[in-house]
Amino acid sequence: MRSQALSKNPNDPLKIMIPDTPANTFFARAMRASDLDLVVRNENAAYASPWSKRVFIDCLRSGYQCWVLANKNEIVAHGVMSVAIGECHLLTLCVAPAHQRSGLGRRLFSLLLERAAKLDAETCFLEVRKSNTGAIALYTAMGFSQIGERKGYYPDGASREDAVVMSAQAPWR
Ligand SMILES: CC(C)(COP(=O)(O)OP(=O)(O)OC[C@H]1O[C@@H](n2cnc3c(N)ncnc32)[C@H](O)[C@@H]1OP(=O)(O)O)[C@@H](O)C(=O)NCCC(=O)NCCS
Repeated sequence: MRSQALSKNPNDPLKIMIPDTPANTFFARAMRASDLDLVVRNENAAYASPWSKRVFIDCLRSGYQCWVLANKNEIVAHGVMSVAIGECHLLTLCVAPAHQRSGLGRRLFSLLLERAAKLDAETCFLEVRKSNTGAIALYTAMGFSQIGERKGYYPDGASREDAVVMSAQAPWR
């Protein structure tokens, strides 16, 4: 991810150009409340158990790092990360199905990690469904490794699915 003079202000309306994506040029920018209908649409398309608009409103109010990749016409990816006392935690990362496997998930996660590093985070944690081999492959490629499991962490219809807990230390890839 291109490095620019990033502010420590989490509300900084920074835009970062991502020119070498296929077909379109997307910008990374802070998520706004007015984005949430499109964000939730992508969330519904990409996740079996999507977050509601209410959850994203709470994330924005909490001052989490909430970012989207967008152009003038569409929002193609969103990610949310909490950052506190030397640690960061990836809360969600989502690329619209039509844009998956174009490098956008990796770019957005890199941007969130870069923001977290500017806010003095040194360790990143995340949970991912055990069955989500695509996401686990992405996180492994970015230097994350499994540090544990949480039994029955995710809803899975009438049942529950285990989470794999992964972590990586800065500097991140
Ligand atoms: C997981 C997710 C964020 C990945 O984003 P993406 O833009 O599709 O992934 P990228 O194109 O950036 O992938 C980068 C690398 O990660 C790995 N990877 C990503 N998706 C993969 C998949 N489905 N299968 C295998 N490897 C995968 C590959 O190594 C890939 O590099 P390559 O394409 O050169 O082989 C996206 O698929 C998604 O939003 N899925 C639905 C929601 C979700 O599961 N989010 C994660 C919750 S923890």
